[in-house]
Amino acid sequence: MFRQRNCHFALGLLCCIIALLSTSTADNSVHILSKYQLLTSTTLKWLPIQHYNPNEFKEIVIGGFENIADGEDENYANQAEKSEVRRRPLYVCRAMHNSIWVAGTQKDKERVCTVTMYGSVQSYDKYELLENIDGAARIAWIRLDKYLQSHVGAVYVDNKMLVARHMVPKDKKEPRYTHYIGTLSSENFGNIIYVNEDGKEESAKSGDHLVETEPIRYELSSVKLNWPKRRDVKPRISRILSNVTITNHGEEPASLAEACTYTYKYSIYWGRRHAILNGLITTITLANGTSLPNITWGMRDEENRTEAYNVQVFLEPGTGVNVTLKANYTDTEVPYSATLISHYEDSATLSRVISGTRQEETLLDIVPEFGPIYFLSNYSVVPTTVSPPTTTETPTTTIAATTTMQPPQETTHRPRQASNAADTVDHDENLIVPPKKIDISTSMQNDDGGPLSLKNKGDYSNVACAKPSLLTLIASSLLLLILHRIT
Ligand SMILES: *[C@@H]1O[C@H](CO)[C@@H](O)[C@H](O)[C@H]1NC(C)=O
Ligand SMILES: *[C@@H]1O[C@H](CO)[C@@H](O)[C@H](O)[C@H]1NC(C)=O
Ligand SMILES: *[C@@H]1O[C@H](CO)[C@@H](O)[C@H](O)[C@H]1NC(C)=O
Ligand SMILES: *[C@@H]1O[C@H](CO)[C@@H](O)[C@H](O)[C@H]1NC(C)=O
Ligand SMILES: *[C@@H]1O[C@H](CO)[C@@H](O)[C@H](O)[C@H]1NC(C)=O
Ligand SMILES: *[C@@H]1O[C@H](CO)[C@@H](O)[C@H](O)[C@H]1NC(C)=O
Ligand SMILES: *[C@@H]1O[C@H](CO)[C@@H](O)[C@H](O)[C@H]1NC(C)=O
Repeated sequence: MFRQRNCHFALGLLCCIIALLSTSTADNSVHILSKYQLLTSTTLKWLPIQHYNPNEFKEIVIGGFENIADGEDENYANQAEKSEVRRRPLYVCRAMHNSIWVAGTQKDKERVCTVTMYGSVQSYDKYELLENIDGAARIAWIRLDKYLQSHVGAVYVDNKMLVARHMVPKDKKEPRYTHYIGTLSSENFGNIIYVNEDGKEESAKSGDHLVETEPIRYELSSVKLNWPKRRDVKPRISRILSNVTITNHGEEPASLAEACTYTYKYSIYWGRRHAILNGLITTITLANGTSLPNITWGMRDEENRTEAYNVQVFLEPGTGVNVTLKANYTDTEVPYSATLISHYEDSATLSRVISGTRQEETLLDIVPEFGPIYFLSNYSVVPTTVSPPTTTETPTTTIAATTTMQPPQETTHRPRQASNAADTVDHDENLIVPPKKIDISTSMQNDDGGPLSLKNKGDYSNVACAKPSLLTLIASSLLLLILHRIT
């Protein structure tokens, strides 16, 4: 996985200075060959030996093995243990040798890195190991062709030399090492230069070089959001989304609806993490199987969302009500754990468990607040024995106050569901219907400002928000019952 050294033109100078500083001081980044330039790997790192704690598991890249002959290893007093440990790993290391970085070998538990260049073999106790961070890098030793042409993803010792190894020929008498780890100069089509098991410099025309393959996309699956640990990054901001006045200029009581549209900034950020390549498309699936929209890893995905909320109220003729749609704008962080699956071009996958923090800015708790119902003729408040109307109580209380009622022709145009619902309503004037939010995301077709009378349109399908709420059904069924009584 590679992070591009992406210097903006104007920042070029700054980048140069930083690059200079980082090469002259500690630069543990591992460079990788891409089609056009050297990149910095996000998943490999040169780990200084003084930062290496053997008790803390770190995956160090292995270049070969040393076969242990019986009875040779006095470190293993126990016979059973000895017979098991027959191969000891040879780790990839690099050391500063005559002022250039040279790749070599650190034998299993030895604390020296043995390298060579220009015939001078040296073992250093100040050196660096090649670490595969979290085992996240997909690396392979790939055979060099006869021209020693390197592949995309080739791992560099510094900026010119590649990490390479030579396979110890089978015809060698009782070889102890399977491979000799060394350096290949990428410039002069030179040889692979290494230290053999007798401590002498050798070179070879054939061998492997170390290549890292980058994933093409990620899959963040089985995401578990730890809601109890949720935290507000910024205090919640109460916002007025819209003020509307809904009026009934008609002849009869009606359930009126208005779609209030509003726009807000939505953003989601799943964080950055070492060993994950920023900029890759990432699919996300929650632990319960719900898929979330794709994101670009490491980027804050922002969008301006426009949604609509359908406000409904039942009004007597000649009355109106002011409605304020309120919400809280929130910016919260939730810790999560998930399985990150890296997908590669050849359909291979690598997965590992990660944890992080998701940050989301969004609107929550969208609620309409109803003012008192007033007469359109003189703006005085309609007397009522109960508290000001809300979505839940308005229809039943206002219907109870109904005195004048013309049996209108349109009764027959009312939807069939109304009469079905009537059976269940059972004349309960105090019936409380929970407020219902209607399909906000799809209810944007009407924003012409004027409230729509369900009655006048004669059909629910013309309402700004397609589906009538339970509220509307009950209100109109009550109305039907009353009309039925009168006629
Ligand atoms: C709604 O009205 C309140 C005052 O009643 C005002 O402060 C607010 O800016 C208005 N909001 C919108 C979105 O019109
Ligand atoms: C899965 O969980 C999310 C939030 O944790 C929730 O919004 C969604 O409704 C759930 N889906 C299912 C199918 O349970
Ligand atoms: C999300 O990404 C996956 C993998 O790249 C792709 O197959 C899918 O079509 C994407 N989905 C959307 C909605 O863009
Ligand atoms: C959202 O709208 C603001 C202005 O209201 C604009 O500056 C911004 O670029 C928009 N963002 C996106 C992602 O469209
Ligand atoms: C309703 O809003 C209008 C203007 O939007 C205002 O003039 C009127 O006083 C408000 N009425 C009530 C009862 O709040
Ligand atoms: C906004 O959040 C606060 C604190 O959590 C809460 O008391 C308030 O009711 C919320 N506002 C709305 C409109 O729900
Ligand atoms: C306002 O007008 C309504 C009828 O339109 C009437 O019933 C009510 O008594 C009037 N209120 C006042 C205070 O004039």
